[in-house]
Amino acid sequence: MMKADEKKALVQQAVQAQKHAYAPYSNYEVGAALRTKSGNFFRGANVENAVYSLTICAERAAIFSAVSAGEREIDALAVVTRDGGTPCGSCRQVMVEFNPQMVVLIADAQGTIHRETTAAELLPNSFNAQNLETSG
Ligand code: THU
Repeated sequence: MMKADEKKALVQQAVQAQKHAYAPYSNYEVGAALRTKSGNFFRGANVENAVYSLTICAERAAIFSAVSAGEREIDALAVVTRDGGTPCGSCRQVMVEFNPQMVVLIADAQGTIHRETTAAELLPNSFNAQNLETSG
């Protein structure tokens, strides 16, 4: 459970991260911020490239930043776009990898939350580590 002020603080971090987006090709700037169980925050922004397919989304940038710092227990993530757009399929898959119960706040650049959901709700019936556990 997240309190209203905790949600607001996380969304505001994502709003700040959006300012660092590098999106000269799409002009669609995305910011993300996540909170780990230990109470630390990590941010990410989308980073595009002239080779379009090399682009990394804001959500994955934030998650990879946390994991690279030794923090895997992500309990909430906020994503901010101009229109309150929802995370792409690749980012949903990466969210589920670390915590299917992760709270996902989808907001716009004004900080208005459009949707509050979880990684598992965004990606039901996911392929995950359990699929790789069988010996056959
Ligand atoms: N993008 C994100 O960063 N996150 C999403 O969830 C959706 C898409 C980025 C990728 C690309 O830089 C731009 O938005 C347009 O697709």
